[in-house]
Amino acid sequence: MCGIVAYIGPREAYPILIKGLHRLEYRGYDSAGVALLNGKLHLYKTHGKVSELEKLVADKDISGNIGIAHTRWATHGEPNDINAHPHYSPSKKLAIIHNGIIENYATLKSELINRGYTFESNTDTEVLIHLIEDIQVNEKVNLFEAVQIALNQVIGAYAIVIISQDYPDMLIAAKKGSPLVIGVGEGEFLVASDATPIIDYTKNVVYLEEEEIAILTRNGELKIKTIKNKDKTPYVHKLEMQLSTLEKSGYDHFMLKEIYEQPRSIRDSMRGRLNAQKGIVSLGGIIDYEMKLINAKRIIIVACGTSWHAGLVGEYLFEELTRIPVEVEYASEFRYRNPIIYEDDVVIAISQSGETADTLAAIKLAKSKGATIIGICNVVGSSIARESHAGSYTHAGPEIGVASTKAFTAQITILTLMALSIGSKKGTISTSKFYQYINEIDSIPEKVEKTLKLSKQIEILAKEFKDVRNFLYLGRGYNFPVALEGALKLKEISYIHAEGYPAAEMKHGPIALIDKEMPVVIIATNKGSYEKVISNIEEVKARKGKIIAIVTEGDVAVKNLADYIIEIPETIEMLVPLLATIPLQLLSYYIAVMRGCDVDMPRNLAKSVTVE
Ligand code: G6P
Repeated sequence: MCGIVAYIGPREAYPILIKGLHRLEYRGYDSAGVALLNGKLHLYKTHGKVSELEKLVADKDISGNIGIAHTRWATHGEPNDINAHPHYSPSKKLAIIHNGIIENYATLKSELINRGYTFESNTDTEVLIHLIEDIQVNEKVNLFEAVQIALNQVIGAYAIVIISQDYPDMLIAAKKGSPLVIGVGEGEFLVASDATPIIDYTKNVVYLEEEEIAILTRNGELKIKTIKNKDKTPYVHKLEMQLSTLEKSGYDHFMLKEIYEQPRSIRDSMRGRLNAQKGIVSLGGIIDYEMKLINAKRIIIVACGTSWHAGLVGEYLFEELTRIPVEVEYASEFRYRNPIIYEDDVVIAISQSGETADTLAAIKLAKSKGATIIGICNVVGSSIARESHAGSYTHAGPEIGVASTKAFTAQITILTLMALSIGSKKGTISTSKFYQYINEIDSIPEKVEKTLKLSKQIEILAKEFKDVRNFLYLGRGYNFPVALEGALKLKEISYIHAEGYPAAEMKHGPIALIDKEMPVVIIATNKGSYEKVISNIEEVKARKGKIIAIVTEGDVAVKNLADYIIEIPETIEMLVPLLATIPLQLLSYYIAVMRGCDVDMPRNLAKSVTVE
């Protein structure tokens, strides 16, 4: 949520900041702003996307080689010009950008109002910068000390960068709960919410830890202290990200590019972990904690959004292959429920960004109760990855489209490998089945490639349904989470109302919605419950609903019943989600494009949800 980027060094800051904002726009895009220092502090901000900011500054003074910039996802106050960041301090000598939420802002604000301060915006951020300046002036301390004192009074989450007219050779950055990365270049520093704005300039980065404050000076000095004034030594990591992964490479949208990347991203998730010829599945990142998984009495999977759907697939996989009971929890519910957690529980946290606030809080809670935490994250070095005892990166590459696609299939790939590896070591899978499964998963990337060839057919289908107002998605077993994910994808990017249901649950409510206007997508590949899925289709047909069925190549019975058929390659039941998801992603994509929606940046959403 919210993207922040800052620069100090010898170059002109504005082009670097604006390019950085475009890279971070997936994090929020309801308003944008920039503050630049060239003797005087200039601040420009507007509602709307980064392109609006570019229009606004077209005839303004944007010189200066120190600056801060922000793209917002509103939490406090509507997305308008005034609430956009940066925010000035009362004297207008300081400006701040902020990602996160200051939870006690109301108390702090009323204290400041009592002392005579007035506020322009409705944001919590403006309160923080007022507080900092108030401390600086009244306690006669320098800017760093003022920030330190202020942050000790703050409850909540923040990643902030502060620029000051009185300190033209220095930026101050601090973090708690929201991510912040410092790029360490040759005599220059960048600060950003993630590494994507940094990669063009340096591969050396320092991830700021909780409650750390960094002072970045123009002479290339980086000092880090905690808010309790403990000195910290910066640890420089090398980024492995490739620049090309951050571009659209000829596709109309990042989402489409990412859908098409799936044969490669699934292969990358398996790379070095699966050797089908030798019969080896081994996830290096969890080796030291494998016994915990093998002996676990229970696995709890915590996640949000699409990652939660991957978790549901994980439940079916782990229960089938390891015979360990699994509970899948919305992280936001789990953390506030006073959950029962045992020391022999293993908690698997799934998160593309590795920064989702609720998932992070859920694992911190489980960890404090003695459970073992395994992270499945896409972003290397992210907070959830660092907070976990062990884990496996999905290696899907940066996912820019706000609606998750390749991260989902990569998460399922990792969960499959993990369940196979634990099941084989635990003896809950026979050797012959183990070999059958690993050979099949090895062939999945080619089958995904083949499934993508359905694209034209799905585009035609999209034309047929682009104007409907509701969609129902049904599936049983492994295909139930696929139905949920299909519905989520459609509503996220096309704004058509869509519901996912276990097919058999339809008769307990949603069936009331079915009439000739209602398209029903049913994933009908199940071998075990094929007849039952057919009955569900009959129930829809009897009420004149339109059936779009995803079937296995060569299917006969469903083909005779359905109005539209999408044939995917044959695979074993547990791997169907990796194939059946693809046409649903494409369907949502084409419908959204035909409806003129902003596919990569759907309204009101953000990719990385670092607030509760
Ligand atoms: C947001 C995104 C979703 C994502 C969810 C969880 O809502 O828009 O696409 O599934 O957060 O994010 P995570 O990074 O934890 O997987």
